[in-house]
Amino acid sequence: MPQTKETKKKSTSGAKKTKASESKKMEETPLHEFFLDGLKDMYYAENALVEALKKMEKEATSKELKKAFKDHRSQTEKHYSTLEKVFKSLGEEPEEKKCKAMDGLIKEAEEIIKDTDAGTMTRDAALIIAAQKVEHYEIASYGGLAQLAKTMEHTKAKELLGQILEEEKQTDMLLTEIAENAINNEAEEEE
Ligand SMILES: [Fe+2]
Ligand SMILES: [Fe+2]
Repeated sequence: MPQTKETKKKSTSGAKKTKASESKKMEETPLHEFFLDGLKDMYYAENALVEALKKMEKEATSKELKKAFKDHRSQTEKHYSTLEKVFKSLGEEPEEKKCKAMDGLIKEAEEIIKDTDAGTMTRDAALIIAAQKVEHYEIASYGGLAQLAKTMEHTKAKELLGQILEEEKQTDMLLTEIAENAINNEAEEEE
């Protein structure tokens, strides 16, 4: 049957492909290049975020949110150096690559500061959402990168990226708690 032939043909070419990629160095594969690009993107993003969080801390109203931004900034600095370890584990030099998404998210936070009044809980409520958008971008990125590291058997990189991922998730939850426990209700009372 022609169908069987085709299936046979496919599996033969598939086997050939595997052989060819095995003879290639892992570092030369398009997937590895994409993985490295993703790391460079986050290396840039974490660095840009350190500066943005300084401003967000300064402009936030409540003590609680100021502290959360301050803590998040030191966590972000830590992520930046953890990424250096990831590069090192792969035998690569750390390198930043402009991350348009993070630049955009930071711009959005700056616009919130411009568009809300200083000293209001409305500003805090809006800044929390801006910060959570950043966290979700980081969660998506590190989740995907950790998964790729696992697939490509970069054990150390997988472990380090997984650690960062967990911290991003915790920060996101903390921001939700701060919003729910005080800020959103107080913001609602403002006129
Ligand atoms: Fe981070
Ligand atoms: Fe973060």
